[in-house]
Amino acid sequence: MTEYTVTFLPQGITVPVKAGCNVLQAQILAGLRPDAPCGGKGTCGKCRVMLEGREVLACQTPVDRNMTVRTADQEQHKILTGGIQNQLQPDGTDDYAMAFDVGTTTLVAYLLDGHTGALLARSSCINPQSRYGADVISRIQHVLDGGGDAMAACVRGAMEELTAEAARKAGIPPERITASSVVGNTAMHHLLLGIDPGPLVTPPYMPAVFKAIEKNGARILPNIAGFVGGDTVGCMAAVRFDRLEELSLLIDIGTNGEMVLGDKNRRIACSTAAGPAFEGARISCGMRGAEGAVDHVAVQDGEIVYHTIADAPPRGLCGSGLLDLVAVLLDREIIDESGRLEGGAYRLCDNVTLTQKDVREVQLAKAAIRAGIELLAETMGVQTADIRRVYLAGAFGNYMDPASACRIGMIPPVLLDRIVPIGNAAGEGAKLCALSRAEFEYSRRLAAGTEFLELASLPGFQDCYVDSLEFCEEEEA
Ligand code: FES
Repeated sequence: MTEYTVTFLPQGITVPVKAGCNVLQAQILAGLRPDAPCGGKGTCGKCRVMLEGREVLACQTPVDRNMTVRTADQEQHKILTGGIQNQLQPDGTDDYAMAFDVGTTTLVAYLLDGHTGALLARSSCINPQSRYGADVISRIQHVLDGGGDAMAACVRGAMEELTAEAARKAGIPPERITASSVVGNTAMHHLLLGIDPGPLVTPPYMPAVFKAIEKNGARILPNIAGFVGGDTVGCMAAVRFDRLEELSLLIDIGTNGEMVLGDKNRRIACSTAAGPAFEGARISCGMRGAEGAVDHVAVQDGEIVYHTIADAPPRGLCGSGLLDLVAVLLDREIIDESGRLEGGAYRLCDNVTLTQKDVREVQLAKAAIRAGIELLAETMGVQTADIRRVYLAGAFGNYMDPASACRIGMIPPVLLDRIVPIGNAAGEGAKLCALSRAEFEYSRRLAAGTEFLELASLPGFQDCYVDSLEFCEEEEA
């Protein structure tokens, strides 16, 4: 079969590629990590590259000759690595331990002193599986189409690289790291371990494997349901959920929105299909939280003003900026309660225009989260106003303005002053388990003692979801 070469700049990498491949596949072959939220379907527009002076979609451009392709410079994504901290009590059986938080979007690794629990180094990267799609469904589909080995290998490879990088930063030989733990959502768990993810996309959407796994010194936290995984268990471990006196809600908004409501007596978890809107996918100017992303929008002296990450020229809108912009436009009545955007589009600045379709995506995402909160409360037999504390985990929860989340009705406004961002709590849970067997056992008990609520099976789900689509919250605030 005919072979061509593709050279990627500025990386200076040349790879041989068989005719019939496209440029996106060539990028993957070259070991690059292209942003491809739609998984190469040609719908997201995020895989643009320059070819012979023209901008083209890498996934839609066949390699039919030798080519030189210029890609976007490797972006420095802002990845949340900090968060609440617990008093760690290491077993002291290993000199060094790694804790991994394998997220759909990002991987974060922590190198810990096995005796003191001190954090020695941290490393992070975009999950290389993003090349197969931003959302877990595209990736599962890729595995079901026969790509399971590549899917597992790329994430394992990235974990090895992160380990090597952290060891280098700490000045220790990587082979002295003899313990590790992993948290991840159920799909990440299955894709990493090479477990068939088919059951996750077939009713009743349950994991093929629930239980905590210990393999070659690695402790892998258990799953609760198909879309409530070890990352949620890690968050629960970090806040000591089963010891909470007050009714509390834990929300982790990532590519999905997982939630747990309860206290020391009872805990119920659910997952909402919030979709990746808040991570920039499916939003016309959406981008991840990287340099040049508009991350906050506010009104100052009557004017709408914005801030970008690293004060760089605006390139797009990340989740927190998107939330703020919609909240501000609601206050200005440029968006009405039904979500209609005056004129069909709002131009914030160069490169950032919010469209009607974007507003609809926000409505779908926020309604999914709000419906989850309402139905958890109903199942628990409480009112949302009874919730005393809202723990917001994850990057989006950390950077977003809670007032905007309440303004658009994603979180009930009555809870505004009870919101506590807790950063990368899943990673914190992973650290606890990497250092201590008792903590790993604790995570098992937490998972086993948490009920799961399948929202879509509730008779009231559809009505609650539809009711939550509108933006009519102000009077409740
Ligand atoms: S348009 Fe090419 S990956 Fe989405």
